[in-house]
Amino acid sequence: MSHKTLFQAIKDDHEEMYEYHDQYKRARKRNDVEAQGRWARQLTWEVARHAVGEEIVVYPLMQKHLGQRGVELANHDREEHTRVKEDLYELESLTAGSQEFDDLISKIMASLHHHNDSEEIKDLPLLEPAIGREASIEAAADFKTTKKFVPTRPHPSAPNQPPYETLVGFLAAPIDKLKDIFATFPTEREMAEAKDELKTRDHHADATQL
Ligand SMILES: [Fe+2]
Ligand SMILES: [Fe+2]
Repeated sequence: MSHKTLFQAIKDDHEEMYEYHDQYKRARKRNDVEAQGRWARQLTWEVARHAVGEEIVVYPLMQKHLGQRGVELANHDREEHTRVKEDLYELESLTAGSQEFDDLISKIMASLHHHNDSEEIKDLPLLEPAIGREASIEAAADFKTTKKFVPTRPHPSAPNQPPYETLVGFLAAPIDKLKDIFATFPTEREMAEAKDELKTRDHHADATQL
């Protein structure tokens, strides 16, 4: 199990978004329209995966451990996610390389910077001490697991589907439903324990017991 705290895991993701945006801007500068589309798409997927992880793991923790303030912060964050997701839908109807596309990317990034900064400056510095280091590391592992529900790219078995069809469907999926699915899997801690046990399994002894 990784020993990243929740703060580190979230911050790493935010940096990943900024990196993809930088790549997009570089492609824009050299007039490479296809690369602009690719990096915008990568950015969109990363934002979508990140948002799900936060909505399933982080915001409920804020509500649980930070009282009324936590409820307010979480509601505010969810509203900001909704607005970014709406912009990401709209981006899909625009053509990469066009001025509108570029303007919308700029708008999305401005919203994200504001939103991410407030998570890093306001939310997590309140949450981390409230839950303690161990719970933070555990939450970071759960956060990583929830992200696995959203593939980093569309599934190769559906090559004829435009990637965004999957993404749009995903963005529209009710978080509660995803949360229910998540709850039916072993936790990261349980998986780590199973993996530890796996290292010391005596395969030969198992075979002789058959
Ligand atoms: Fe967020
Ligand atoms: Fe975030």
